[in-house]
Amino acid sequence: MAASSISTRKARIRLEQHAVVEGEQAHQVRCALYRALSDQLVSSGAVVHEVDVLVEDEDAVDSFARLGFGIDQVKGFRPAGSGSANHDSRVRRARPEDIPRLVELADEVLRFHELPPMWQQPEPGVLAMVEAGCRRALAADPDGPHLLLVAQEPGGQIVGLMQAAPDRRSADAVTIGLAGVTQQSRSTGVGTALLDAVSDWSAGLGFARCGAGWTSANPLSDRFWRGRGMIARSYRMARVIDRRIPAGG
Ligand SMILES: CC(C)(COP(=O)(O)OP(=O)(O)OC[C@H]1O[C@@H](n2cnc3c(N)ncnc32)[C@H](O)[C@@H]1OP(=O)(O)O)[C@@H](O)C(=O)NCCC(=O)NCCS
Repeated sequence: MAASSISTRKARIRLEQHAVVEGEQAHQVRCALYRALSDQLVSSGAVVHEVDVLVEDEDAVDSFARLGFGIDQVKGFRPAGSGSANHDSRVRRARPEDIPRLVELADEVLRFHELPPMWQQPEPGVLAMVEAGCRRALAADPDGPHLLLVAQEPGGQIVGLMQAAPDRRSADAVTIGLAGVTQQSRSTGVGTALLDAVSDWSAGLGFARCGAGWTSANPLSDRFWRGRGMIARSYRMARVIDRRIPAGG
């Protein structure tokens, strides 16, 4: 078992960074490995621990739950090309002049994730990274595997966005990164129209699957992605160690 340090407080054990033999001893072995690793991590100030596990590896999910981890992020896939053949006229590719509005929408998505029950703090500088990512996507070859879509109301207002690129781990899949619909336009089919367009685009490029990652506690996206055929493939499980200074300490 090993961990990659993401920041000074947070450490992540990726899928390829942990393995144990199957069988009755598996939990005890995992427990011993995590005991030793977490000792090092906490000593160096990393008190947020994350581990990636496959959903089908029920023993690992159960074992890490017994060690105090809970499901934080979900990664799921559905077959590419399962969108509706008739595309919604509100959906189009993004253009450079859309970027300020896309950053506003990204900010709304981030602020939504700060609310309960997600309570997610945005990483510092994330909006600048979003803006740079939008510029990169728009500069890329339009026939290539990077897509940035917007949904525009008849009045001209951009109300939704969805971005997709090749999955980092699975050569046969694209993964949706940023996705969001402004609050007033939710539950009118905008998100589904964007997803259908991404799904058909990815099939057109020869990808077999289309994926998305979401925060498990997000009541909107968990229902949305699962309801649109995304089957959970892996979880990022997380644990926060309480290192408050003891009273009188
Ligand atoms: C998740 C999100 C992108 C979905 O977008 P959306 O535009 O609301 O999605 P849709 O309108 O296509 O579908 C949402 C629901 O509205 C329903 N709906 C769609 N059109 C409708 C209509 N005309 N009348 C009534 N309901 C409708 C859908 O059936 C769906 O319901 P279901 O989940 O019970 O199946 C959006 O809720 C959002 O931006 N959430 C906040 C940010 C976020 O969570 N982003 C995702 C990060 S991974």
